Amino acid sequence: MIKDDFKKAEEQGEAAAAADPWRLSYHLMPPAGWLNDPNGLSQYKGTHHIFYQYDPQDVNGRKGKGWGHYTTKDFVHYKQLPTALYPDSWMDKDGAYSGSALVEPEEIRFYYTGNIKFPVEHDYIHSGRGHYVNTFSTPDGFTFTEKENLLKNEDYPADMTNHVRDPKVWKEGERYYMVLGARDNNDHGLALRYVSDNGRDWKYDGRIETEEPFGYMWECPDLIEADGQELLICCPQGIDRQGYDYENVYQNGYFRLEGDKAKEFTELDHGFDFYAPQSYVDEAGRRILIGWMGIPDADYTNPTTERGWQHALTIPRVLEVVDAHIYQRPLPELMELREEAQTIELEPDKKLEIDTNVFELELNVAGDFRLQLRQDCELSYHGGLFTLKLGASGYGRDERHVKIADLKQLRIFSDTSSLEIFLNEGQEVLSTRLYEEGDTCSLISDTAMSGTLWKLKSFIIEKAEH
Ligand code: FRU
Repeated sequence: MIKDDFKKAEEQGEAAAAADPWRLSYHLMPPAGWLNDPNGLSQYKGTHHIFYQYDPQDVNGRKGKGWGHYTTKDFVHYKQLPTALYPDSWMDKDGAYSGSALVEPEEIRFYYTGNIKFPVEHDYIHSGRGHYVNTFSTPDGFTFTEKENLLKNEDYPADMTNHVRDPKVWKEGERYYMVLGARDNNDHGLALRYVSDNGRDWKYDGRIETEEPFGYMWECPDLIEADGQELLICCPQGIDRQGYDYENVYQNGYFRLEGDKAKEFTELDHGFDFYAPQSYVDEAGRRILIGWMGIPDADYTNPTTERGWQHALTIPRVLEVVDAHIYQRPLPELMELREEAQTIELEPDKKLEIDTNVFELELNVAGDFRLQLRQDCELSYHGGLFTLKLGASGYGRDERHVKIADLKQLRIFSDTSSLEIFLNEGQEVLSTRLYEEGDTCSLISDTAMSGTLWKLKSFIIEKAEH
């Protein structure tokens, strides 16, 4: 039984993972094994649900993916719940892949991709793969109904390959809407639109495409709207690096939409480790985004694999759209993690030692600078270009960049083995993992700068059945 295998693997791996000094203190991680995309993000009757692609049986996520599950009411205290969805049926036997949640008055309804590999020789791109939209729901947030299949290969337009996945569903008035990420037979990425009157019977309703091809596949689409402007967040694959743009193996970002025409693409996070973000609207009306602080197929590594676990989710970010640009701001609830504020005055080339690497640091900057922090991380700003550079602690991560005019503020979230760097109140962000020996931090800057530092407390995570 897959259920028992998951449980056993989690129980066997948990202690070794928990003992790892690289374990993060205020980020969600797999209890054991592998994590990737956030899934089914929602707030229902006060509780936030955070599901994620989870494979406790294999630290590289190749054994079979289900949905792990955390809940929280305040983003400081969490419940680690039993796996919510297993790849245990004809409709998802090779992976209960990514999907989203729709909150209805008396249930959360989920839509996800069931991945099936047919047992003959195939390339699994143009043939050999079932890629279904399945659904299930929960009335209480911890018991889940039987899953049902809603869409199969033949329900997608005839010119699609076997890569159509990651349904994101929302409701406006009485109508239901869905976008799916896709790769067509010409190996062009796009998103498919579906509509429904009841959330079960779906009708194809057109496709979102760029004028010129932009990559071969768009994963994890997420359509958001602000002030009448639609933006399609997604993860295009197959884009080559262009100078300081598109530096990662796969991209993350958003298109401005004009009807179904996808216009300019703007990158969301410029760090080494960010992919497959998903957003949801909470009960206070905020649009919250969480990303996978990892990326598939990168040429840099995560040494935590030797300790039986890999990857984490980013901290939640509240999105605000100004002139079709997405600003990402750390969720205000995280301020509850702050210990007493410490004023920081950095004098040029004078080292400041901090006795932890788990902190939040806000710095006011002016003009060009070079700031070294932690073991071998360098943040610099020169000629309108911000650079994040790592040494040996990057395990193959070298440099990432973002162009930003008039940089005034850095807000750095440092955890044992991660950094999330917000520039100018979330105008740009860079997220990365890094793996150092030791647990302290030194700061040294070539220019004077001042700011505030808060040591941060850890999340409190309790294991629970519901
Ligand atoms: C993105 C992704 C999704 C897919 C899931 C499988 O990282 O490839 O497209 O649903 O991961 O785990």
